[in-house]
Amino acid sequence: MRLDKLLANSGYGSRKEVKLIVKAGAVMVDGKPAKDVKAHVDPDAQEVTVYGEPIDYREFIYIMMNKPQGVLSATEDSRQKTVVDLLTPDELRFEPFPAGRLDKDTEGFLLLTNDGQLAHRLLSPKKHVPKTYEVHLKSQISPEDITSLENGVFIEGGYKTKPAQAEIKANDKEHTVIYLTITEGKFHQVKQMANAVGNEVIYLKRLSMGRVSLDPALAPGEYRELTEEELERLNEPQA
Ligand code: URA
Repeated sequence: MRLDKLLANSGYGSRKEVKLIVKAGAVMVDGKPAKDVKAHVDPDAQEVTVYGEPIDYREFIYIMMNKPQGVLSATEDSRQKTVVDLLTPDELRFEPFPAGRLDKDTEGFLLLTNDGQLAHRLLSPKKHVPKTYEVHLKSQISPEDITSLENGVFIEGGYKTKPAQAEIKANDKEHTVIYLTITEGKFHQVKQMANAVGNEVIYLKRLSMGRVSLDPALAPGEYRELTEEELERLNEPQA
């Protein structure tokens, strides 16, 4: 990896800023002053120090965010706020991106990472990673509708959704709430599934991905890094 990227990823400032540190002679690679920020270094095999301190380098970041409503699941947008806009330079230096999308009006567990392989595995329909949603519905739901959601319903393009799990949490005149677990991620899938049984989603929150649940301590807009155990669980192959 290029020395400027390595230093920037390790928290020593922007690429422009790290250039100045290198120019000032503060950066050593294997005991020799580094001269060229474009030089390639291998952080696993070479020792890089800044002002005599070994750098604390790691390649990947994994952030669990409770995505708030009103924010786009994107890295940038010319007009609207994105989930990446909620991060600070400490995380931005890793160039994380959202692994998958939640609609603008959906809340809940969003993973932001720069680990393309993990993101790909989590999103690949072949991997069947279950995602559980708390779904608030406009109208009451019948046991038949629950069975239909579980067996598969027809959505856009005549596509039949894969088997899912649906559990009623509340079903009275004031609130109808179900937990719906699906293993795919078609466009507006949960909303489309609700529509397919003649209902409508009025609030949607993702509660979990694979065996990792959203930390209830995170208010909408808050985030934290995954623990090692959570990361291991996300990496587990799914049944
Ligand atoms: N299904 C939806 O309809 N919207 C989301 O944001 C996620 C799943």
